[in-house]
Amino acid sequence: MTQRTLVLLKPDAVRRGLVGEVIGRIERKADWKIAALELRQLDRATLEQHYAEHVGRPFYEPLVEFMLSGPVVVMVVDGERVIEGVRQLAGPTDPIAAAPGSIRGDFGTIVRENLIHASDSEESAIRELKIFFPGLS
Ligand code: TYD
Ligand code: MG
Repeated sequence: MTQRTLVLLKPDAVRRGLVGEVIGRIERKADWKIAALELRQLDRATLEQHYAEHVGRPFYEPLVEFMLSGPVVVMVVDGERVIEGVRQLAGPTDPIAAAPGSIRGDFGTIVRENLIHASDSEESAIRELKIFFPGLS
């Protein structure tokens, strides 16, 4: 079941020099392929669309400020069950609850700065890919 997902390496991952480490873990999964990749400074409008489900929550504003605090790596990954697969590599939202061996579990401590975003379902992937890569077929 080949799928396509959106992955963001958040400003903390870029600042801390963890981009290669995280991309390496994704690249090493059998038959997964990077279809697009770019270092990009996001803007508020994009983040409001991306995090639409969280608008109005107490963590929303600090989350947006954090996501604006530096460039992110935006990437598209294709492959076998890649949507569930990247979520599994990332681990749960709270890095302290995330198991060692996962990206968040290995490198994160605080919930907001949890290194990586990955689409959580096929519907989310379609929606998010349109926001970040409107030209991609
Ligand atoms: P969410 O979509 O719940 O998590 P995930 O990234 O695992 O899909 O939340 C989006 C981001 O918002 C999350 O990665 C980090 C941030 N966040 C907070 O800062 N505080 C919180 O209490 C929650 C739930 C999320
Ligand atoms: Mg989410």
